[in-house]
Amino acid sequence: MKQTLLRIREEALRALSENGADLEALRIRYLGKKGELTAVLRGMGALSAEERPVIGQIANEVRAAIEEEITRRAAELKVAAIEARLASEKLDVTVPGDEVAVGHVHPISRIQREMEDIFIGMGYDIVEGPEVEYDYYNFQALNIPPDHPARDTQDTFYITDNILLRSQTSPVQVRTMEKRRPPIRIISPGRVYRSDAVDASHSPLFHQMEGLVVDRGVTMGNLKATLEMFARKMFGEDTRVRFRPHHFPFTEPSAEVDVSCFACGGKGCRLCKGEGWIEILGAGMVHPNVLRGCDIDPDEYSGFAFGMGIERVALLKYHIDDMRLLYENDVRFLAQF
Ligand code: PHE
Repeated sequence: MKQTLLRIREEALRALSENGADLEALRIRYLGKKGELTAVLRGMGALSAEERPVIGQIANEVRAAIEEEITRRAAELKVAAIEARLASEKLDVTVPGDEVAVGHVHPISRIQREMEDIFIGMGYDIVEGPEVEYDYYNFQALNIPPDHPARDTQDTFYITDNILLRSQTSPVQVRTMEKRRPPIRIISPGRVYRSDAVDASHSPLFHQMEGLVVDRGVTMGNLKATLEMFARKMFGEDTRVRFRPHHFPFTEPSAEVDVSCFACGGKGCRLCKGEGWIEILGAGMVHPNVLRGCDIDPDEYSGFAFGMGIERVALLKYHIDDMRLLYENDVRFLAQF
């Protein structure tokens, strides 16, 4: 019986050290209720009174040895498992990371936002209007009747006789004055369409930003001060503004507005083509006919309006000499801004 016990111990310890993956199975096999050691102990009843304590002690020692080995082996396997996991999840923090491509705001959007921020700072609201527009808003309500020659200067995409793709953002002036009562102070950025062939300075789709202020006592002086403030914020503190007489059917008087060249300060360079001045927008005092058409009394209220091309400002500010670059969307180009 002693031999059996010692054999069980030897076998159990070997099995534990050799394999031991399923420690619970081995425990049941040797120490469980139907296990080998238990089976031996059951046979102890047949032993003599002198043998029983001797064998009993050996049996206890064998049990203790096996239990101890199970505990030791369990701890050993646990450490091994952690080590294996650490090895498989090893991370070399010195390996260079993958470059994450960061998106860029398109230069047109950038300039548009810059302009919006300047006017928001002066208390303007942003208002948007439809790109598919009625002839009425794009022309008639802007004091451009059906046979007016001004229609020829804006080669318009017509959808039906009286529906078109807006050729300017000025229709938003009318839509706003129909809905709001003075004081009105809005800008309206957006896409406009003209059937122009694509070249370095033309595109059938481009962007404008309209401005409109209507209140009691609004003057041309207010218009000039506003545009001076805008020009200084947009192009630099030393920028000067110059008005040249012009004609728009929906403003009277009207002006084309130049800023002093922000590249050469007015001495004349490539950017301003030696002029010292750069034309950036059209503006004027809202024509009384336009106010009247929106049910605003021109004897009580006056207003100014201006409109500028966003691409034009982007090209000038970023010294880009071909407008097509703005639409090709080559990321190598766009990533520079
Ligand atoms: N809508 C005019 C254009 O596209 C610009 C403009 C707007 C002029 C507002 C005067 C007032 O040329």
